[in-house]
Amino acid sequence: MSIQIPRGTQDILPGEVEIWQYIEATAKEVCRQYNYHEIRTPIFEHTDLFQRGVGDTTDIVQKEMYTFEDRGGRSITLRPEGTAAVVRSYVEKKLYGQANQPTKLFYQGPMFRYERPQAGRMRQFVQFGVEALGSADPAIDAEVLALVMSIYAKLGLKNVKLVINSLGDQESRQAHRQALVDHFKPSIAEFCSDCQERLEKNPLRILDCKKDREHPLMGTAPSILDYLNEESQSYFTQVKAYLDALDIPYVVDPTLVRGLDYYYHTAFEVMIDGEGFGAITTICGGGRYTGLVEDIGGPSTPGIGFAFSIERVIMALKAQEVPLPVSTELDCYLISLGEKAKAKTVELLYQLRAAGISSDKDYLDKKMKAQLKAADRLNARYTAILGDDELEKGLIVVKQMESGEQEEVELESFIQYMKQHTQGGN
Ligand code: HAM
Repeated sequence: MSIQIPRGTQDILPGEVEIWQYIEATAKEVCRQYNYHEIRTPIFEHTDLFQRGVGDTTDIVQKEMYTFEDRGGRSITLRPEGTAAVVRSYVEKKLYGQANQPTKLFYQGPMFRYERPQAGRMRQFVQFGVEALGSADPAIDAEVLALVMSIYAKLGLKNVKLVINSLGDQESRQAHRQALVDHFKPSIAEFCSDCQERLEKNPLRILDCKKDREHPLMGTAPSILDYLNEESQSYFTQVKAYLDALDIPYVVDPTLVRGLDYYYHTAFEVMIDGEGFGAITTICGGGRYTGLVEDIGGPSTPGIGFAFSIERVIMALKAQEVPLPVSTELDCYLISLGEKAKAKTVELLYQLRAAGISSDKDYLDKKMKAQLKAADRLNARYTAILGDDELEKGLIVVKQMESGEQEEVELESFIQYMKQHTQGGN
């Protein structure tokens, strides 16, 4: 019996992988413009990190982590998200001690969550994310939001809606928490067992419950915005003012709470507005976190960031029929006719490649016509045809595929000729 790919994972094959590379390159280019630098952390970490970082009462920690014991008896978890790992590295490598602050990082890589797979929800998915650590200036919140919106604009994504909320500081959240307990407690028996547990541990999570979404008390739950103290209110006002100044449209949704525990003040999601995108409309999530660095053992440091999965961006781009790069082209395809010529093309191919020219040849002893077809299929800009006769005369026939123009070129100057034509802008 053949072995199949695990549920919720996918192979990204040539033809599709170019789209991934293009999105990753676009996101990296925007990060470069914003002075964010790449960090790479391990794919697995100690389980403790996510329990402390993401939060014990979240769905991610309670139900979705890929956790196992390694051969040394340690509890290890495949990372379900990037923020906790970046913060772990920030603390461990003392990045807070570096001269340039805030520390601005981006990352990209596979994340793992044991979720029920559906379109746009995978068990292994690739997140692109950024974290800015070390500044509590609301202008950084606006910068991070501007960064993600610039990536989407550059990709040509339409109907992108930025939804923001404030979860307030410790004091505001405490007041809101009490209001939530008072609101839900009398009827908590009507809620699922998870929510009953959440009531005491973390009532904010009730608002995020997928099972009880339709319960009438959800719609009337106290809004965090009514419990923000003066400082939190002022912070939120400043973030909004910066967004207005940058002409970045947003809507405020007081019910946006996010599925991770570390957020304070600004929380946000980017959604795709409009028909035809299926059940999942959130393509990006993020926000500000205040206690996370301390929880992970570092000095008290504010941070803010976001992450989106490449899978969801591709889904959105495809649903909107945004033109995407599908295939790469080849500079030159070598075609040979005759045994001696065939041997010579091996050498020529090596020289072409060494000169920086992407090139290939036939390895299946195909007839001339089939070789020409292969050149076509590979989108070759040039084909170079070498027969035993030409070889004897020291010549090679070079054809520009688009115009059909053909030229005999001296074998000796062939590599130089190809260099000029493929790299010299001709
Ligand atoms: P999150 O909301 O859990 O936040 O995930 C962020 C994004 O990752 C989602 O909006 C979605 O695009 C993508 N995503 C999540 N789960 C899946 C899945 N199963 N399949 C496909 N895509 C998925 C975080 O992970 C935070 N670390 C974001 C952050 C960074 N906050 C501050 N800094």
